[in-house]
Formats: sequence, C-alpha cells, structure tokens
Amino acid sequence: MPDTQISTLIRSRLTETPDFPSPGILFRDLSGLFADGAALRAVADELIEGFGPIDAVVGVEARGFVLGAAAAVAGGLGMLAVRKAGKLPGEVLAESYELEYGTATLEVHPDSLPRGARVVIVDDVLATGGTLTATLRLMERAGWEVAGIAVVIELSSEFDGRGVLAASTDAPVKALV
Ligand code: PRP
Repeated sequence: MPDTQISTLIRSRLTETPDFPSPGILFRDLSGLFADGAALRAVADELIEGFGPIDAVVGVEARGFVLGAAAAVAGGLGMLAVRKAGKLPGEVLAESYELEYGTATLEVHPDSLPRGARVVIVDDVLATGGTLTATLRLMERAGWEVAGIAVVIELSSEFDGRGVLAASTDAPVKALV
C-alpha cells in the first residue's frame, strides 16, 4: 500500500485523548485500528516490509504484542515478547531505562531464538526512544541481529526518539505515521 494511503488509514482509526492517563499527556490510542481487520492486516504487512529476510518479529509490551503478533502471522513468522519486569518465568535478560519519573525494566527469554537470528522490533509508538533503546540492548545481549525497527506512530515533533535510537543501532527505523 502506498505510504500516503497507509498513513491516511491509520490516522482515520487513531483517537487522541488529552490529559490521559495524567494531565498534560495527549494519549494516542490505536484500539480503533486493532478492531478493524482490514486495517490491522494492512498495517501488519507494512510493519515487516522491506527489511530483507527475517526470522522472527519482536513485540514490545503491551500494544507491540498486538501489532507484532499480527505482523508475524502475516509474514509466516514467530513472535517474541519483550515484557515488563516479572512476567516471564525462568532465565531472562533484563534492561532498565529511565521514565519521566523513575525507571522501568524490560525482559526477554534469551533462549527463544538462536544467536544470529534476524529480527524486526515492532511497537505502537516511538516517543523518547527509551523503550526501544532498552529493547535493542536486550537483542544485542541475546545475540540477535536487528534487521529493523517498525512503529505505527513516531512523535517526531515532540521527541527525538529517532536520534536516540541512532546512537544504539544502524538498523533502519520505519514509522508509518
Ligand atoms: C508506550 C508505548 C511505547 C512507549 C514509547 O508504552 O506503547 O512502548 O510508551 O515511549 P518511549 O519511546 O518514550 O519509550 P507504555 O510504557 O506506556 O506501556 P504499555 O504499552 O504497556 O501501556
């Protein structure tokens, strides 16, 4: 689907709610996109397109699970979950990152894929880039090669998430809106 068409489709399914979940935050919600099968399929195809051969899709909690699983099924691939701390049993790799107030931790099972596997990381929103930078560190420690990063929405006028990611990876970053 041409870039302008997918962008228009996403914008038509996107809702923006001011002051949620706290004052001053403009919350972008993709629930309307997730509920529309044709739109979800179009976005899923687009998220993994153009990165060359891929072994698996990595989805970041929580909305990255919806998008990552949809993209994985669309591509006939498996999906790996990067989860918030304390959700995965057994041996995990963990990476902490800064939030506006405090820190958060993401975890992954390192034995889910062989070292050298090529993955595409998928999430709904790129804002500060903190979440995806921590995810990149997890991929590096697991020995997986990042073929690319794909998000539905990049908040490029509010944050320099793309610049932050460029300090950690040469992998291409694709944003659909
Ligand atoms: C949101 C969003 C991204 C992240 C982007 O997740 O889904 O994962 O923030 O922000 P960043 O680029 O500044 O790191 P959130 O942490 O709110 O978790 P959730 O998806 O579980 O609600």
